[in-house]
Amino acid sequence: MRIVLVGPPGAGKGTQAAYLAKNLSIPHISTGDLFRANINQGTDLGKQAKAYMDAGELVPDEVTIGMAEDRLEQPDAAKGFLLDGFPRNEPQARALDAYLERKGLRLDGVLDLEVPEDEVVKRIAGRRICRNDGAHVFHLEYKRPKVDGVCDECGGELYQRADDAEDKVRTRLDVYHRETEPIIDYYKQQDLVVTISALGPVPEVTQRAMEALRRTG
Ligand code: AP5
Ligand code: MG
Repeated sequence: MRIVLVGPPGAGKGTQAAYLAKNLSIPHISTGDLFRANINQGTDLGKQAKAYMDAGELVPDEVTIGMAEDRLEQPDAAKGFLLDGFPRNEPQARALDAYLERKGLRLDGVLDLEVPEDEVVKRIAGRRICRNDGAHVFHLEYKRPKVDGVCDECGGELYQRADDAEDKVRTRLDVYHRETEPIIDYYKQQDLVVTISALGPVPEVTQRAMEALRRTG
């Protein structure tokens, strides 16, 4: 399956993607995680992305689209993929369509996670992620690590993302409404969108998502 996950910052895209990717045996590809890994490793790509990310703004398309396509070229993505955080505006959605068309492929579905803004703010405020692997995600209230500040999965240090500060979250939500929400309509025209509520315990949301994905493709 080839799936795109959309939803506001803090909706739980990364959290759900980890379970969905496992259930569906496809790689979870998060452009945010890829950028953060590049920043940690001090690569040129990381240097280009950092200021935009810290400000809560989108990294320019020419950087992002190239990085996403490189990742999609890797062998594990040949059997399908779950994209999290890409595409994030209409030019990126068009670039992905063009890329897939060149390969003779198409998307199977776009899963839209709906969460009210006050819940998103709570989810972001309590989030802590692992320095070693951005896919190891915790929450001070909803998913406490066994030892404060230490990742349950690998022992890495937990930290708060710079863009999770309150003023940056406001910018990210504005960017989401302005740039990313329009791609939901873009994909509705292709009849690809399934919308679910992402409220409630994580396993319940995963179950809802799996049922919704069965209705696509
Ligand atoms: P990115 O990393 O994609 O961030 P985002 O879209 O803002 O989304 P988040 O990762 O903040 O939230 P999430 O939905 O994954 O939620 P999570 O599962 O962690 O992008 C960051 C930046 O990178 C962008 O601002 C931009 O600068 C750049 N970038 C990335 N992609 C780009 C692109 N394509 N183009 C240009 N720039 C790009 O969950 C949040 C918290 O809630 C966690 O603590 C979790 O434990 C908790 N939680 C999850 N589910 C539940 C639940 N059901 N109940 C209670 N708590 C829950
Ligand atoms: Mg995420």
